[in-house]
Amino acid sequence: RAGWPGLINAYRDRIEIPAGAEVVTLHEGGTPLVHAKRLSAATGSDVWVKVEGANPTGSFKDRGMTVAMTYALASGLKAVICASTGNTSASAAAYAAKAGLTAAVLVPSGKIAMGKLAQAVMHGAKILQIDGNFDDCLELASKTAAEYPVTLVNSVNPVRLVGQQTAAWEVCDVLGQAPDVHCLPVGNAGNITAYWKGYTSYDQGLPRMFGFQAAGAAPLVSGQPVANPETIATAIRIGSPASWTGAVNARDSSGGLIDAVTDEQILSAYRLLASSEGIFVEPASAASIAGLLKTAEDGRLPKGSTVVCTVTGHGLKDPDTALLGTTEVEPVPVDPGAVAHALELA
Ligand code: F0G
Repeated sequence: RAGWPGLINAYRDRIEIPAGAEVVTLHEGGTPLVHAKRLSAATGSDVWVKVEGANPTGSFKDRGMTVAMTYALASGLKAVICASTGNTSASAAAYAAKAGLTAAVLVPSGKIAMGKLAQAVMHGAKILQIDGNFDDCLELASKTAAEYPVTLVNSVNPVRLVGQQTAAWEVCDVLGQAPDVHCLPVGNAGNITAYWKGYTSYDQGLPRMFGFQAAGAAPLVSGQPVANPETIATAIRIGSPASWTGAVNARDSSGGLIDAVTDEQILSAYRLLASSEGIFVEPASAASIAGLLKTAEDGRLPKGSTVVCTVTGHGLKDPDTALLGTTEVEPVPVDPGAVAHALELA
């Protein structure tokens, strides 16, 4: 949005930063809240989609990163570190470049979407692949930051969630009040924690929080950590969420729920959102839409509700999943008649 100053400047009176700090911003936030006509008709509700892929690096992580990087720069340390399934590393790499700091990112080997890796490479991050999953990466990043002069910018750093709560404020600013229900994907559980913090601090009413995990990585649903999480939605392939208690509190205090959606439901929602609403997201993001459809169908979503679904990351992050199965690119001769024939216009 032209003229949008970034979320720290937009909510200057509500977000504390160190005195005299230089604000590190790529003008994140202020993302579209798009009305979803076909999803509304399909669910009997009034559905809005908060498109977080419109942030500078294509995911909601930029909201936390502007605050975390502003603090990191002010601290005087020269480097930041994070564990990531991909989006945090892309965001950390970009904001570190903007701040003039060095970023180190620990990623699980082989399980990071191509677009995200490309971003970390281009922004000049030091990329370290770990023979393990996200949970192993986070433990390693935390231990390294505890012992060496480097700032941890994962969401266990509390200032990340201070930034991420602004998405809830923006929703209230656009709708004029909080929605009845807010659906979002849940992985490490920082974002659902941040949204709840946002709503409870804003005085515009409170939604019921509906969180959705991938069925193969659903510790908050089973109540037990998952040793070997698996899902096509690599962004939320997490077995031991750092913000476990925050997520449970958001669910219980709001009268909400945390449920699982299968990879099949995720992929079907992923395709539906792109083909019927014009919004292309990455697979993990579609967990909120899959959950919307599931709870509308089984009756847990009351008809007539105003619902906001956050879609957390852009579809171009993960072109491989988009091109799975049917590609359907049809060769035609250089001839208008042949084009018309292919389009069944003649
Ligand atoms: N959606 C996307 C696209 C994500 O990248 C993530 C988390 C989530 C949802 C879940 O959010 O962890 O706050 O519950 N990605 C992290 C990363 C783990 O490393 O980029 P959460």
